Amino acid sequence: PAGPLDIVAVAGRIGGEVRGLRLEGDLDDATILALRRALFRHKVLFFREQSHLDDEAHQAFAARLGKPVRHPTAPAQHGDFLLELDSHHGGKANTWHTDMTFLTNYPSASILRAVSIPEAGGDTVWANAAEAYARLPQPLQQLADTLRAIHSNDYDYAANQTEADEETDAYHATFVSTVYEAEHPVVRLHPETGERSLLLGSFFKQFVGMSSGDSRRLFETFQSHITRLENTVRWHWRKGDVAIWDNRATQHYAIDDYGTQHRVVRRVTISGDIPLGIDG
Ligand code: SIN
Repeated sequence: PAGPLDIVAVAGRIGGEVRGLRLEGDLDDATILALRRALFRHKVLFFREQSHLDDEAHQAFAARLGKPVRHPTAPAQHGDFLLELDSHHGGKANTWHTDMTFLTNYPSASILRAVSIPEAGGDTVWANAAEAYARLPQPLQQLADTLRAIHSNDYDYAANQTEADEETDAYHATFVSTVYEAEHPVVRLHPETGERSLLLGSFFKQFVGMSSGDSRRLFETFQSHITRLENTVRWHWRKGDVAIWDNRATQHYAIDDYGTQHRVVRRVTISGDIPLGIDG
């Protein structure tokens, strides 16, 4: 149990809503520890009614969970470590991804705050990548155990952007202004829990030693296990909500179903480790 926190499961396999807690930079150590434990267990935590958080307080709270890190290419527009995703400026994360896996030591966690939310639509969905690994048929598990993959910020990013416009193109150009690539094990160990999880998502480029065609087909097979609906939780945002996810054991997808309505979220990411595979 996560100690003093009041947590209600939001879905069967992932996601917990923490009730009655006001997030701030001077939360005591016991509460922070309880939050970290709850995060490892539920993979994504939701908090309603955190409208008191401004940019500064958001960053101060995030800093209690670890060391905030900048996005390597996107400009921090609202304070040192805040990344803004503004739907009117191309900021739509509607692919299944884990944040910044194109970096060798990609972030361990992200803290997202809802600044402006459409009247209808704009939910985000998270998938449990540890549960996905645990439920793979054994031959696929054994195959995954042996694989390594290249991730890049300049690969297939726009695949789902069917309505690419000037703003989206400009956002993309900034996003790939420097190209990053990292090689990771496909099955990573969680340094805090020892759990194994599948490390893939939309920055995946290719499996090491395989053609791009074989890579893409096999990738789709693994992704389909990660993102099957039973393995997900969907959050219907209200302005002022906060979500924190364990970026070492999840993927997420921001649903782009709100047309020209305005959606703005701001995110702080926490530094991560270099992922270890099952053989170290
Ligand atoms: C993200 O991918 O970090 C943003 C998710 C969202 O916009 O809901």
